[in-house]
Amino acid sequence: MSNSKLDLNGQEYELPVIVGTEGETAVDVLKLRAKSGAITFDPGYGNTGSCASAITFIDGEKGILRYRGYPIEQVATAASFAEVCYLLVYGELPNRAEYEEFRDLLARHTLLHEDMKKFFEGYSTMAHPMAILSSMVGAVSTYYPSAESDEDLNLNIIRLLAKTSTIAAFSYKKSIGQPFVYPRNDLSYTENFLHMMFAVPAETYEVPPVLDRALNLLLILHADHEQNCSTSTVRMVGSSEASLFASISAGISALSGPLHGGANQKVIEMLEKIRQDGGDYQKYMDMAKDKSSGFRLMGFGHRVYKNFDPRATLLKEAADEVLEQLGVADPLLDIARNLEDTALKDDYFVERKLYPNVDFYSGIIYRAMSIPTEMFTVLFALGRLPGWIAHWKEMRSDPDGRIHRPRQVYVGETERDFVPFDKR
Ligand code: SDX
Repeated sequence: MSNSKLDLNGQEYELPVIVGTEGETAVDVLKLRAKSGAITFDPGYGNTGSCASAITFIDGEKGILRYRGYPIEQVATAASFAEVCYLLVYGELPNRAEYEEFRDLLARHTLLHEDMKKFFEGYSTMAHPMAILSSMVGAVSTYYPSAESDEDLNLNIIRLLAKTSTIAAFSYKKSIGQPFVYPRNDLSYTENFLHMMFAVPAETYEVPPVLDRALNLLLILHADHEQNCSTSTVRMVGSSEASLFASISAGISALSGPLHGGANQKVIEMLEKIRQDGGDYQKYMDMAKDKSSGFRLMGFGHRVYKNFDPRATLLKEAADEVLEQLGVADPLLDIARNLEDTALKDDYFVERKLYPNVDFYSGIIYRAMSIPTEMFTVLFALGRLPGWIAHWKEMRSDPDGRIHRPRQVYVGETERDFVPFDKR
């Protein structure tokens, strides 16, 4: 390990340099304050590494994304979502026996405690399914004690992966006033979710393979993305030794924001608005470049990807295939393509390295699958769940781990005496 030198207030300090397995270089400031009294300042953490992690690697300049070393382009087309869950959470691809045991465990734990159905009675039909998901995941923890052993923790991980899809599907059924469809043990994770979403008691519903393949791809592409806002939230909450369920509930809330996972819903609402406004996408491009408009091109830009987002590339291809296989022609896809083509030639976007991100095309596919817009971010959460769990496990198994507690630079009033009412 080499060293860096910091010259501060006429003193020189040596700070260790850490280099990751992909050549990323970091200045280790663990002892900076103890040595110099100074801290680093990095609002939004754009230049700050919060941890060392072995789960996901992203190279934003080259558009590289790998889960445990496997390129997303290979994983997205060759794996099942259950395999990716296993890979992210346990670190290696499962062999056939490990996979079948894991898949059967997931199937067996999809049921919610019957009493949990009562929770749904309290939600208004207008309740956003992300709010339901976050609160219900927190509520699940009241049925299962905090894990004391690795075995208990692993069972809670299985419960969380399995039951979250049931909660999501039940929240959809609640919103349309239909009866809940119970999970089935003979279906895969993705088939089960689609069956719980779209089956109705009066008919037999066979999950169309094209929907199952599309959902599998979408969930895999969302499965992890290193230290994004919601994953960092899960690590932050978990660092206080809060339970896995409580930490994931917090991650769901962070994901719901429109600048993060909530963007996929906002993209469709934006495209719909452009369509209703006569399809004049250039008008909205101009608004996106005018700061005073307050309008942002949702689904564009990324803190890390300063070139293409490999997931957006895969989703753009998939959008064509899925819509064709479903026989769906969506005018919003044409608007999305026109926006992308225009932005890629526009100096404002080129200079700021703003490209379509994972949220730009995902909503087009969800729509073609008849997933309602308000459920888009819920599907993002279902996809991201194994990533959150993997990071929570990695953080909690760090022998040097400690509660996350950033510092600040205080810019408020200096000391002053209290003023009683009659002197104010
Ligand atoms: C996700 O971190 C992850 O990995 C996230 C994610 C994951 O898998 O977990 O990839 C998922 O959250 C994808 C991002 C979804 N959000 C959106 O699509 C919302 C629209 N995008 C932006 O709000 C924005 O690009 C962010 C939030 C994604 C990134 O914000 P940054 O890194 O803080 O960038 P910024 O706001 O500082 O923007 C830099 C410049 C600014 O202009 P200047 O001040 O330099 O003149 O680019 C402009 C911004 O105004 N800009 C945009 C824009 N995004 C940035 N201008 C118009 N439209 C946009 N979408």
